[in-house]
Amino acid sequence: MDPRLFAVEKRLSPVRRILAVTGGKGGIGKSSVSSILALVLQRAGQRTALLDLDLTAPSDHVILGAEECRPTEEHGVEPPRVDGIEFMSVAWFLREHAAPLRGDDVSNALLEILAVTRWQPADVLVVDMPPGLGDVALDAARWLPRAEYLVVAASSRVVLATVRRTLRLLAGLSAPIAGVVENMERGEAGAVPDVAREFGVPFLGALPWDEEFEPATGDRARLARTAFAEALGELAQRLL
Ligand SMILES: Nc1ncnc2c1ncn2[C@@H]1O[C@H](COP(=O)(O)OP(=O)(O)O)[C@@H](O)[C@H]1O
Ligand SMILES: [Mg+2]
Repeated sequence: MDPRLFAVEKRLSPVRRILAVTGGKGGIGKSSVSSILALVLQRAGQRTALLDLDLTAPSDHVILGAEECRPTEEHGVEPPRVDGIEFMSVAWFLREHAAPLRGDDVSNALLEILAVTRWQPADVLVVDMPPGLGDVALDAARWLPRAEYLVVAASSRVVLATVRRTLRLLAGLSAPIAGVVENMERGEAGAVPDVAREFGVPFLGALPWDEEFEPATGDRARLARTAFAEALGELAQRLL
């Protein structure tokens, strides 16, 4: 067993709950949900931390307007705070470069980050998980055995096919599932609640398609006022 796994467990011990945001498909809103969930939880009085583990396209720092943040080092790496949220991202290490990593190196880079990050006591750590269902995503799941999964879905057949695969994979890993969230809802009754029912996992609610979301990117106060954030705030109550 990799000794760094013990280090990860110890580093994460001040965190009470880990919510891992996943969804199988790119562009479904994992980063939007992760970032705004951290924002609404912090505003609801939860001590909140956020970790962006998407090495291919880290986005949470862009959504939250935290591009200039950098961690500090003292007995490990201390995440910067963004509106009180302890925020660690692979982006702090990549800057604007594409990750020049392949195969095992990607997993090792993520493990390294988990092993060095010094979290302060937190009620919730939201993790924007590596996308896809490949080795990197599986490794990250293995290193976060306490994680409860929030599966982001949308009511399109293409997305739902991947969501089913994700739910099957998580069931295969015996990973706890906090629930399924429908994103980009446009008012019609979609098939997402049916898929949740099919897998016997909670359907947590829908987040509307929100024209105001994109222009609010980078502006936390404005993001917090969007219909997307409002719906996610209500949904988050069901998670606590
Ligand atoms: N509910 C929504 N309404 C409007 N735009 C959204 C919504 N959810 C996500 N988006 C937009 O969709 C794009 C992809 O979202 P993102 O969170 O980056 O997806 P992922 O992390 O799954 O790849 C972003 O440009 C984001 O602003
Ligand atoms: Mg993303």
